Amino acid sequence: MNPEITAVLDRAALARNAAERFVALARQMIARHARFSVALAGGSTPRDLYALLATPKFAVQVEWARAHFFWGDERAVPPEHPDSNFKMAHDALLSQVSIPPENVHRIHGEWDASQAARDYEQTLREFFQVSAAPSSGPAFDLILLGLGANGHTASLFPHTQLLHETEHWVAAEYIAEVKMNRITLTVPAINAAKNIVWLVAGADKAATVRAVLRGAYRPEELPAQLIQPANAQVTWLLDHDAASQI
Ligand code: 6PG
Repeated sequence: MNPEITAVLDRAALARNAAERFVALARQMIARHARFSVALAGGSTPRDLYALLATPKFAVQVEWARAHFFWGDERAVPPEHPDSNFKMAHDALLSQVSIPPENVHRIHGEWDASQAARDYEQTLREFFQVSAAPSSGPAFDLILLGLGANGHTASLFPHTQLLHETEHWVAAEYIAEVKMNRITLTVPAINAAKNIVWLVAGADKAATVRAVLRGAYRPEELPAQLIQPANAQVTWLLDHDAASQI
């Protein structure tokens, strides 16, 4: 299925467009199966989306008690650490709306990274009711993804073993490029999603967007190219600068 590619003017327009899609999908999935499961992205780009969802205009449109929050990846730091993806989303959104604590399924970045990965995978298998046997993966209603200028997404960094994990849904690895342990959804886990929305902004991403979408297939250098879900609706939301080379 070819991805939808939508370019909007700037970061503010990106956040608005993403918020409208988030709300629409949440309503659709809650109507369809009484809950909405979303894996959040870390980094700076999605923060504007999370803050916008917490504003009255959007917050009143989501039945938060039926929304379940997960993360696509996490840094191996405690939840109160400034680098924590959980902290970023908690401060911008989760602490601002009435989400039951049991609906927030964070990755335990404060634990040993491998232990946190095993724990998080068990959480996913219980939530999606899939046994330990090999299976398709966690069918998130929505996964939000960012794109690093180096072609990484989630914590799937170039030239890491993480790129080759096919058995587990969650894995951990020390990432030399950022000098920290990371815990991340693996390629098969991300590719099992029903909907994927990429949020990419800034001129520094333009060449990478072009390479990922239009260039040769070289997933070791551009792990974002590994995200090729068989049955998901994939949407690239780009601001003008990030879309300037496609
Ligand atoms: C993380 C994110 C990471 C992020 C990209 C883009 O933990 O950092 O999961 O994959 O999405 O690095 O980050 P920006 O949106 O801040 O450019």
